[in-house]
Amino acid sequence: MTLPARFTVQGKTALVTGGAKGIGAAIATVLAEAGAQIVIADLDAATGTRLAADLKGAFHMLDVTDPAACYALAEQVSPDIVVANAGIVHNGPTAEIDLSDWQRVLDVNLTGVFNTLRAFGPGMIARQSGAVVCISSMCGEIAVWPQPQAAYNAAKAGVNMLVKSTAVEWARNGVRVNAVAPGYTATELTLAGRANPAWFDTWIERTPMARLGTPQEIADAVLFLASDAASFVTGTVLNIDGGYTAV
Ligand SMILES: NC(=O)c1ccc[n+]([C@@H]2O[C@H](COP(=O)([O-])OP(=O)(O)OC[C@H]3O[C@@H](n4cnc5c(N)ncnc54)[C@H](O)[C@@H]3O)[C@@H](O)[C@H]2O)c1
Repeated sequence: MTLPARFTVQGKTALVTGGAKGIGAAIATVLAEAGAQIVIADLDAATGTRLAADLKGAFHMLDVTDPAACYALAEQVSPDIVVANAGIVHNGPTAEIDLSDWQRVLDVNLTGVFNTLRAFGPGMIARQSGAVVCISSMCGEIAVWPQPQAAYNAAKAGVNMLVKSTAVEWARNGVRVNAVAPGYTATELTLAGRANPAWFDTWIERTPMARLGTPQEIADAVLFLASDAASFVTGTVLNIDGGYTAV
């Protein structure tokens, strides 16, 4: 049996921000397996360069909070697929969080996605073709418990609305914009929480499938949204969360 070509990304170029590690690395790997030429853009040059070499792709140092750097990269690469994945987490109660911590989470997780869309969108619009997949979180829709993380949740809610708004704006320009919203996934980002039984046991208990997701399970959903198999899908937020948001 051969997979229909529309379920692949054969011959496409895919840029993955935050693609050096975790979910981004899995996305880069799955898209490469499905035929794409990969460009990893990340702050972590050592890890990103190694993975890019393994995937026969390219690595570029990028801080997504720097709009000029995003524009400069868009001068060098013209991707058919853009995955805005770079993200950080900060846990702190609303009444106590430092303004600088709040700002940093918003800068990376929301403005970073905005900078990526603004830098790479015009080229896709000019070519009348492109697929953007933003990595949001189930926390863009529900406030998780017990860890306090209002900044993260607010940023991800912002990503969901940014995705919908931009999808509507670009729908007649041949550019689709969607989000994948992962539940708890086994990466460095969740290391501290996984080491804390008071948090981890609640995470598992509240997840109907009673386990974490793997980065590859998130990446497989990104492949679908990036591929022509999703040619009528835009402005959607696809939860990949073991049933968490269904409860
Ligand atoms: N792990 C989870 O449980 C989970 C759940 C929901 C959503 N997410 C989202 O998935 C995305 C990836 O998370 P992860 O778990 O793989 O995290 P991770 O910490 O394993 O990897 C994040 C990657 O992003 C890069 N990065 C961070 N800041 C950057 C910046 N300013 N510019 C460029 N690159 C930067 C890091 O160097 C790293 O390679 C994030 O947007 C995160 O919010 C993760």
